[in-house]
Amino acid sequence: MGGKKQTSVSVAIFGSGAGSNAEKIIEQSFLLMNKGIANYTIDLIVCNKPGAGVLNIAAKNDIETLLIEKEEFFRGDAYIDHLKEKGIEFIVLAGFLWKVPVQLIKAYPNKIINIHPALLPKYGGKGMYGSKVHEAIIAAGEKESGITIHFVDELYDHGNIIFQAKCNINAQDTPESLAEKIHLLEHKHYPEVIQNLFKMQNSR
Ligand code: GRF
Repeated sequence: MGGKKQTSVSVAIFGSGAGSNAEKIIEQSFLLMNKGIANYTIDLIVCNKPGAGVLNIAAKNDIETLLIEKEEFFRGDAYIDHLKEKGIEFIVLAGFLWKVPVQLIKAYPNKIINIHPALLPKYGGKGMYGSKVHEAIIAAGEKESGITIHFVDELYDHGNIIFQAKCNINAQDTPESLAEKIHLLEHKHYPEVIQNLFKMQNSR
């Protein structure tokens, strides 16, 4: 009462993998909704891979999906109208491997974020995704790794960093065990960072 009215930001998640991060982010939005403090809703899942796990997660949670096609997507502006018509205000990349075209970045300035499974600026850039990241880190004998949540700009894994969290790597770790540690960090922090981001927007 008397405070600033809390508004809910309409979010699309872009993913093409298993969708475990999407699942956690959706869970968190429902949790907040039940508490009456939801400041974001996941209204669309955008995917480029028929059969991807993230589509099942969308179906399970009754969330609309949009299957995108490569040539169309890289034309740049192909899906912007659809996103805008749907009222999407913010984009969360979670396991989305295609480079986001400049037109889409311009249509959503500072409103697209990504999660990368390493401590950027190390182990980022073109070709550094999924198990390749963890293999490179283990091969280099690194003693720690982590996650980076950042704004998306025109370069791969390059925009302003919002949040990082670290984990230790021990002598027994393999790319697979490191991937597990990283996933745990992602699941813990990505929903929380998104929630806090919108909390800040709401208090402006
Ligand atoms: C995550 O490790 C994320 O960092 C990377 O892709 C993976 C997606 O996993 N960009 P999931 O689809 O969320 O399970």
